[in-house]
Amino acid sequence: MVLGIKIGYVLILTALVVSCSSPSTDNYSDTTNESNISSKALYTLHCEACHGADGKKGISGAADLSVSIINPKKIKSTILNGNEKGMMPYKEIITNPAEIDSLVSYVQTLRKK
Ligand code: HEC
Repeated sequence: MVLGIKIGYVLILTALVVSCSSPSTDNYSDTTNESNISSKALYTLHCEACHGADGKKGISGAADLSVSIINPKKIKSTILNGNEKGMMPYKEIITNPAEIDSLVSYVQTLRKK
């Protein structure tokens, strides 16, 4: 009889411990900056209209990206802040840092090898 109560008590205690310590999945959020959009898709969406698929289109004086020689840092700042004519301020449009970085890489693939 006494043993039966003890076992019951242990079972309740175990159930309590398990229910309290089970990992909460409620607050789980994806904190990575990964983008699911490919760099090519991003370029097509945001940049191709002026620069063209091969970077040479030059609409409204857009720089020829196939002969561009600026370094990745400058590419990045050009995308973020635009040029002196205020043509490409993407800071507020592309807010995912991973997407900016993938565009910086993609732009360099347009260069003539
Ligand atoms: C509204 C037209 C337009 C769009 C859209 C546009 N650009 Fe440009 N881009 C320009 C113009 C114009 C210049 C040249 C500015 C200059 O010479 O002062 C330029 C220059 C650049 C340069 C500098 C090249 C160099 O060698 O100086 C890079 C890099 C660049 N654009 C990348 C991009 C990327 C990446 C996107 C998409 C996120 C984009 N552009 C979208 C018009 C555009």
